[in-house]
This record gives sequence, C-alpha cells and structure tokens, in this order.
Amino acid sequence: MSSIAVLGCGTMAGSIVSGLLRSGFPADDVVATARSAAHRERIAADFGVSTTEDNRAAAAWADIVLIGVKPYAAAKMLAGVADVLKPGAVVVSIAAGVTISTLQEALGGRDHPVIRVMPNTPVKVGRGTFILSPAPGALAAAGTVRVLLEPLGTVVEVPESLHDAATAVSGSGPAYIFLVAEAMIDAGVAMGIPRPQATELTIATIGGSAELMATSGEHPAVLRGAVTSPGGATAAALDQLESHGVRTAFARALEACRDKAAGLGRHRAPRGVGRQGLARGSGPE
Ligand SMILES: NC(=O)c1ccc[n+]([C@@H]2O[C@H](COP(=O)([O-])OP(=O)(O)OC[C@H]3O[C@@H](n4cnc5c(N)ncnc54)[C@H](OP(=O)(O)O)[C@@H]3O)[C@@H](O)[C@H]2O)c1
Repeated sequence: MSSIAVLGCGTMAGSIVSGLLRSGFPADDVVATARSAAHRERIAADFGVSTTEDNRAAAAWADIVLIGVKPYAAAKMLAGVADVLKPGAVVVSIAAGVTISTLQEALGGRDHPVIRVMPNTPVKVGRGTFILSPAPGALAAAGTVRVLLEPLGTVVEVPESLHDAATAVSGSGPAYIFLVAEAMIDAGVAMGIPRPQATELTIATIGGSAELMATSGEHPAVLRGAVTSPGGATAAALDQLESHGVRTAFARALEACRDKAAGLGRHRAPRGVGRQGLARGSGPE
C-alpha cells in the first residue's frame, strides 16, 4: 500500500480522502495539508488523518502526491515541493485545465510519473467518475492509481488530448443532471404535484434510468424508443424537447465547458479571492 500526501485538501480532495478511507485505505498512510488551522482541525476530526501546513514535509514523506488546490495554484504548489519528492513518487493532479506538460515543467525536469485525474462530486456517495490521463511512461503508476480509485466509483482512462472534453461530460456532468432534475420537479409542481412527491418521483426516475442504461447494455435511443408509443404521451413530450433544441443545447454547452476547462490552468487567482476566501464551487471550477 502507498502513502499519500494530499496537498490542498479542500472540497474535492477531501471527498477523495473520505472515499479512500471508506474503501479501507489506512488513515495512517494519509497526510493532508491546508492553509488555515481551522480547516486542518476539521480535516483531522472528520477523517482522522494527520495534517500539516508544511507542504514540503508532507510531499517528502509520500509515495503519491495529490495536488488538490485550485487550478491557478497547482503548478506553483508542485514547483514548491518538486525538489523534496521521493525518487519515483507519483504526482496526481485533479486541477482542471492544468496540463501534464505544465506539471512536468513545475517538476523542473525531475522524472516522476504524472497523472491527471478529473473526479466528480458523486464521489461523496461512493459513485464518483474519475477521468484518468497518464503521462506517456506513467502507465504502471496509472495502474496503481486506478486500483486506489476503483472502489470510489468508475474510472475511465482517456488520452490527455480528450481530458478536457471528458471533463465536460463527467466532471461538470452532475450540474447538468441537477438542472434537468430541478426543471422536472418544477414542471411537476406547476402541474399541481406537491414538491416532495415531485422530487421523489424525479430522483427515482433519474436513478432508475441510469441503472437501466448501465445494466441493459442498450443504446439510450433504444431504451427511449421502448417508452415512446407512436402518437403517445411520451412522444408529445419528446417532440417539445427536440423542438426547443435540447440536443443542440447540450452539444454547445459541453463544448463551452471543454473550452473553459482547458483555459483554467492558465488563469490567475480570481479577483477578490484572498488567502482564506476561495470560493467553494460544485464543479471542476
Ligand atoms: N469541486 C469539484 O466538483 C471538482 C471537480 C473536479 C475537479 N476539481 C478540482 O479540484 C481542485 C480543488 O477544487 P475544490 O473545489 O476542492 O477547491 P477548495 O475546496 O477551495 O480546495 C482547495 C484547498 O486547497 C487548500 N490550499 C490552497 N493553497 C494551499 C497551500 N498553499 N497549502 C496548503 N493548502 C492550500 C485550501 O486550504 P484552506 O481551506 O485552508 O484555504 C483549500 O482547502 C481544483 O483544481 C478543481 O479543478 C473540483
């Protein structure tokens, strides 16, 4: 089993730590860093792992170094610890838009396996989706990371050239599903269904449909066809969705997300974001 240093154990990295511990990873093999003492106390209380503000000490101790800070801070964080990494230590970055070559530059030419990972928020309930993009030559390390992440959800490997596009599908994907859920619930309420029942119906429908897609092996179009009688009620609903451009909206939305994600690693700290005041978002950024 490897030791893991989580440099910047915020919302997403914390969810990964929580999942690793639930899967049986020993708390003694994790050290987490954060800037604020209050935050470190919370991490220690929530997870029972060691914490420190000393990123260099944490990085020097670990076999795997997980960079968990915001994208604009990721390369600087890695550059600050590069000279103390153990030989062969694996660098894993969850920072959206920060490329393998940027991370390798931050390592100053030192030879460490580098892997980009893009998680999503359902990791909090053990149903995360992880996009894995290893640097060329980091295949063995990618195998180790895959084994660690598999108990936390689904791991899908893509070449780095597709990492941002994949981020648009699964990294930000939960937000689209939550929007669809909100719209279905509100539509139900508008037709007179009490909100609790509309909510229960919607959540069960989304969960059941996902399960059906996952287990049947059928293309979604086939499953959709199976609930669409000619000239029937579902057909009337789908006709409205298509005529309001739902497919085009998703296509343009995901392209916009991919392009924005690709630019995140090049951005500086957002205006007005102070040392302790980082915004907590619900997506890659
Ligand atoms: N949230 C998501 O759904 C999601 C999904 C996919 C990927 N990601 C990626 O996850 C990364 C983090 O996002 P997040 O939403 O989890 O942000 P976050 O909650 O703000 O976490 C960042 C953490 O980094 C810590 N930190 C910042 N500078 C540090 C330093 N110099 N030394 C030690 N710790 C430091 C902060 O500590 P303090 O709290 O003490 O300031 C904070 O806890 C981003 O790169 C993002 O692209 C997020």
